[in-house]
Order: sequence, then structure tokens, then C-alpha cells
Amino acid sequence: MSSDADQGERAAGESTGATTSADATDAPLAPYPPNLDPPWLHFTGMMADLIDFGERALATRDVCRVRMLGRGDQYAVGHPDHIKRVLVTEREKFRKSRDFRIAFGEGLLTVEGEEWRAQRDAMQPLFTRDSVLGYADGIVEQVQRRVDRWADGQRLDLQREFTDLALDVLFATVLGRELELDGDRRLRESAEHLHEWFQPTSYLLPEWMPTPARRRFKRAKRTLEAEAERLLDERAGEAPADPAEAEDLLSLLVGLREAGVADSGMLTDERLRDQMVTIVFAGHDTTTTTLTFSFWALANHPEIRERFHAEIDALDGPPTVDDLDDLPVTERVVTETLRLYPPVYQLPRLTTEPVVFDGYRVPEDELVGLAIRHVHRDPRFYDDPDTFRPSRWDGDLRSELHDFAYAPFGGGPRICIGRQFALLEAKLTLATIGQQYDLGWLGENDADGEPPVSPEMTLRMEPGQEFLVTER
Ligand code: HEM
Repeated sequence: MSSDADQGERAAGESTGATTSADATDAPLAPYPPNLDPPWLHFTGMMADLIDFGERALATRDVCRVRMLGRGDQYAVGHPDHIKRVLVTEREKFRKSRDFRIAFGEGLLTVEGEEWRAQRDAMQPLFTRDSVLGYADGIVEQVQRRVDRWADGQRLDLQREFTDLALDVLFATVLGRELELDGDRRLRESAEHLHEWFQPTSYLLPEWMPTPARRRFKRAKRTLEAEAERLLDERAGEAPADPAEAEDLLSLLVGLREAGVADSGMLTDERLRDQMVTIVFAGHDTTTTTLTFSFWALANHPEIRERFHAEIDALDGPPTVDDLDDLPVTERVVTETLRLYPPVYQLPRLTTEPVVFDGYRVPEDELVGLAIRHVHRDPRFYDDPDTFRPSRWDGDLRSELHDFAYAPFGGGPRICIGRQFALLEAKLTLATIGQQYDLGWLGENDADGEPPVSPEMTLRMEPGQEFLVTER
């Protein structure tokens, strides 16, 4: 985190102005951070502690350049004004990075322009708040099915368990096929290996270089594509004639293909497969980490846990759609967890032309990381930013906050399509589990009271951390 002294010269809300073409060619390149080792040693700092390295890199300026081992330089921006420019006001100067396309082909997460618009329009109706409310009972059912196997006194690797749960929920609801509780192992493991393409160790290396993690990624992707194909074939002929009536993504995709909706961009088998793999990737790991860190936070803050228990114990049985407005504490626990531990802690974009931030140039065709976690913990925007305090959201903070000082789901037109679903799932899962079990933290926090984290493609908890299950 930047020190208070560092913040002095950078007042909150400082205007950063848009780029003019003269700036864009004349401005000096964004500098390497003066407080870090020389560029050729940057990779050692990244390997030692990526989060700390990122924080130090942005400690003195809101834009910086770092050296990635085999990939040349990369840039990062750490002010909400910059994030807004990239995602909204100057978004035509940026595109998604190549990595995503190599990994996920032509799915919604990766495509651009007209094709993205067509895919987004086709899928959006399934993800509106009203539509996802229809999944509420299915979510609670999946959670209950899994926690029915928990026992008092059991030690649980919660991140492992929630990876399985997030897949149970995603498949049973959005994809319309219930996974076996103890089975479907190959499918579950493959879903988990999808993030291996983005291992920080691989990330430093050129895209063409094979690494064990990249090989595991490719095997996993092939397995998921085969499953997607099987599911699509199984559903063939059963989809509603009007794709607007589809109840899950699978029937929507099959329906679009069968109805020959040419401008949906989803007429080939390959495109449909890419879409399914994209949803499995985007929709499970992010939710897993949100749930894991939420329970870590509850376990480590007894007074908040008490308020949470009081709220969910007041419900008339398991949570339903009708209870959603009666869960403000639960909701704020999720909001605050996504602030401190945003699964997508850094959002990558590629420049399509030179862009100037705070008088410094980022050249064309360079990677810019939007430092979401860094902004979420910036004292210019949050009091006591490193403290988990859900009640900070009780008052008017949302309306007073810079609109891009809180962006766990990104922003602008490409904001997460699954955010309503994810928030519903998190809220219902916390309430369903919390009514029955207390989960005690058995891991060790660091000297600052932070849990052991592992920044991969998403910000995860280090593997193997355990919680103690106690029946309530
Ligand atoms: C807490 C959970 C989640 C978080 C934090 C999260 C975060 C994000 C972020 C930051 C983006 C923007 C990416 C970018 O601009 O490059 C995004 C996009 C996306 N997310 Fe999520 N997500 C979550 C859950 C989900 C779920 C449950 C689904 C699907 C069921 C999903 C599907 C997608 C898709 C398809 C996109 C691409 C949208 C587009 O480009 O139009 N996400 N997500």
C-alpha cells in the first residue's frame, strides 16, 4: 500500500485529462518505479510476492512500467480516473489481451466489436437480475446437497470444497446439467486447470513456450470442450423454438444455432464450445474465492459474525428470493470481501494506440494492467483501507465514492455479465451455510492479519488452508 507521504502529491479525485495526439507522441514513457530494483531484477520481486511488488510499483505514481522477463515491458495504472478512461471514455484505444483469446478462443470474454455486441445481446437476457432470481432455489438446493455431508468437528479445505460447490451450482443452473456430487472428477479437475494458462511463472515467459502448466491447461481445455460438445448434442432438438424462452445457457445456445440466428455469432460448433468453456472459466473460480474469503473474514471478525448470525437466524427457514432484502449484513460482508480480495485483482488490456496517463506515455500494442486491488485499498478513497469493515457500506459511501474506486466486476460495456448471478449465489450460500455451521479458521494470518493469498489468474487463498466445521 502507498504510504501517506506518497499520497501527498496525489490528491483524491485528481483529474488526469484525456490524451491529445500531440501528448501521445511527445510524452516520455511511463517510468520504471524509482523505489524498486532495476528492471532486470523486477522478475525476482514478482516471483517473491506479486501483490507486494504491485503495491510498491504504484506507491509513488498512478502509472508505472515494469519489466516482464521474456515479454518485455508491461504497464500498470492505479487511479480510478485511469480505470474509467480504459473501460469507458477511451475504450476504443484498448482491446483484450492476446492471452485470453489464445486460452478461450472466441467466447464472450475475448471477442471484440460487432461480434462481442452480438454475443452479449444474445446472452444478456439470461443474466438480468430478474432472470437470475429464478435460479435462487436451485442454488440453495445445490448448497444444501453438499453441506449435508459435512460433520461437526470436520477439518475442511474450504477453497477445494467451494470449487466443487461453485461448479455444482454453475452446471445445475446456468448450464442445466446436475453434476454428480462425488463424480464427474475429470470435468471438475479440468475446470480447475483452466487458470493454469495464467500462472505468474508462465506469464513471464513468451506465449509460444510450452510449460507444464500450459500443457495441463491444454489437456483441461480439450476435456471441457468434449463435455461441451456432448451436452450440446444431448440437448439438440430440445431447445425452445424461440431462443428468448430458453431457461438456461445450454438451451439458449442450441436454440440460437437451430434457429439459425446468424447475427448471434454462435452458429458453429466451435463457437458454442468456446462459449461454454468461457462460462465455466469465468463463472466458477471467481465465486469460489469470494466465498472462501467471506468465510475467512467472518471467522476472523467475531463481532461481525454475531451480526451475521442474528440476521440469518431471524429468517423463516432456509433463505429464499423473498428474503434477499432482509440480508443487509450478509450483502455487505460480500461487498467488503470483494473490495479487499477482488478475485480479478488486475484487469489486463492491450493498447491499440499510444495513450498518456498523468503526462506519461504507454506506447501502442503494450499491456496495461488496471490495478483493481490497489485502488480498492487506496487511502485516498477509503478510511482505514486495509480493515475489513462491512459497515463502511451502511451509509452513503457508494454514492460518494469515485465510480471506479470499487470495480470488482470491471466496468463500462464489458462489465461482468454474471455479476447479478454471482452476488445472488454468494448471498444465498453464506446464509444457507451460516444458518447451520460455524466455520473456524485454522490457518495462519500474517503479521498484518491478512490471510495467505496466492495471486494467480484470480486472487485465491493459498492451497490447503483449513477451516473447522462446528454445527450451530
Ligand atoms: C464474484 C464473482 C465474479 C467476479 C469478481 C467477476 C469479475 C469479472 C470481471 C472483472 C470481468 C471483466 C473482465 C474484463 O473487462 O476484461 C468479468 C467479465 C465476465 N464475467 Fe465475471 N465475475 C464473476 C462471476 C461471474 C459469473 C458467475 C459468470 C457466469 C456465470 C461470469 C461471466 C463473465 C463473462 C462471460 C464475462 C465477459 C463479459 C463481456 O466481456 O461482455 N462472471 N467478470
